[in-house]
Amino acid sequence: MFPLLLVAIAAIDLAGTWAPKQAGFGPGGNTLLRFQQKDGRFEGVSIGGMMGESPIREVTIIGDDISFVVRTTLGGEEMRMKWSGKIEGEELVLKVQMPAGLGPPPPPGGLGGAGPPGGPREMRFHKLTAEDLAAREAARLKPMPLPARRVLAWNGLAATPPMGWNSYNAFRNTVTDTQIREVADAMVSSGMKAAGYEYVVIDDGWQGERDSRGRLQPNAKFPTMKALAGYVHAKGMKIGLWATPGPRACSPAYAGSYGHEKEDAEQWAEWGMDFIKFDWCSAGEIYSKEQQPLVYQKQAELLRATGRPMLFSICQYGDNKVAEWAAAAGGNMWRTTFDIRDTWQSMSSIGFRQGEVAQYAGAGHWNDLDMLEVGNGGMSNDEYRTHFSLWAMASAPLMAGNDVRKMSPATIDILLNKEIIAIDQDPLGVAGRPIYKKGEQEIWTKTLAGGAIAVAFFNRMDDPTTMKVNWERLKITGDYKVRDLWSRENLPVANGVLQVNVHRHGVVVLRLSK
Ligand code: GLA
Repeated sequence: MFPLLLVAIAAIDLAGTWAPKQAGFGPGGNTLLRFQQKDGRFEGVSIGGMMGESPIREVTIIGDDISFVVRTTLGGEEMRMKWSGKIEGEELVLKVQMPAGLGPPPPPGGLGGAGPPGGPREMRFHKLTAEDLAAREAARLKPMPLPARRVLAWNGLAATPPMGWNSYNAFRNTVTDTQIREVADAMVSSGMKAAGYEYVVIDDGWQGERDSRGRLQPNAKFPTMKALAGYVHAKGMKIGLWATPGPRACSPAYAGSYGHEKEDAEQWAEWGMDFIKFDWCSAGEIYSKEQQPLVYQKQAELLRATGRPMLFSICQYGDNKVAEWAAAAGGNMWRTTFDIRDTWQSMSSIGFRQGEVAQYAGAGHWNDLDMLEVGNGGMSNDEYRTHFSLWAMASAPLMAGNDVRKMSPATIDILLNKEIIAIDQDPLGVAGRPIYKKGEQEIWTKTLAGGAIAVAFFNRMDDPTTMKVNWERLKITGDYKVRDLWSRENLPVANGVLQVNVHRHGVVVLRLSK
């Protein structure tokens, strides 16, 4: 049996480096698959901008059928991508099942991007020759000059976690000028602006060509950025833009700021931008992990040099111990996770891990758990209340990610819960953390200004439950006034113990004050 298998493997000419035939496939574009044969088996690596290098495992060949798995960890989240297919003539034809939110661009009609969840898609690869490989190596972009590492002083922005709206979760790369104006209108008319949502952020998908001065200009979907910024400002809100240090955006169709870092910073300031989300994407093809903090520091310094205050939002998917260096590199917020999806699984796996980084949050610098999915339809209202409460307990930025032009009463009730927002925005700026975890029950507390405490009871189980906490665990004594922030009622004064009923996947948030 064994020699036969060997013969079969030898007949399949998988060894070598395979490049996708379609331009810019995948997040950051250009995922290469490299296989080699060792002891009668194949092994390899997948090399992609956003994910870096990830090992290829479980290569199985049965007859003509090839399958393998690429495993990677992004932002603390384990991801598994299963590939399968065949060699057809000169081509390796594969289907890949990627985690939702991390896939090849959507089919024509969509405008590219890390893309919405989807079924397996077919991709064709061709094997690179030695000349191809040499040419690629020669064309490889070199790191731009980087500054010496230093600790940047606080830029004075984001004294409390930033609040606003970002286009990506609802519109992906189809975002347009008109949508942004309508969203700004809706943020005013719905009461969101009055509730504190301030920044309107245009994510990936606005970029066009560079002008003669080397400044990246918007594409046809955004006729004039300056006028758009003026429109948002006239509403009393602020505006932000997405950008990347890499040569290409995460949706490879669009350009990045590589080599034009200064010109772009100046252009953003001139347009009147107030917020820059700086997303790693294809920068991983150029810079090392050691250089990454400097790439961010450099852009923070360039933003400051324009003289216009711009909130700096670092997005590199929670990798590279980012919470330890992001504030010093000038970040007002930094993503601690890979992209959220509109599912209970994604949201809860992101949110419940954040106690670990609570110590890094504080005035001017916050852990970013990613934009909200509240109102996008993939979770129940109890799950969305859990989502919103968890972000507030963690002192995370509250960037709505839904189409605020059409919100259900339930969505409005969640996003505009001023008492939960007040937990997030508490002036003390101390991020909450879990004080109790048992199975799928968690109790989080957050110390608030004026000696008050927020206590959140999370029930991650599939059934309703009763949860209890006593004063020893809360490290308090005496009488406390108790307010239920979702039912919006005052409960009887308590002393010693509190007990609540919690829906499946639900939460009860209490505010205790003297
Ligand atoms: C990455 C980021 C997302 C979004 C997309 C845009 O995936 O993590 O938040 O900005 O890029 O393509």
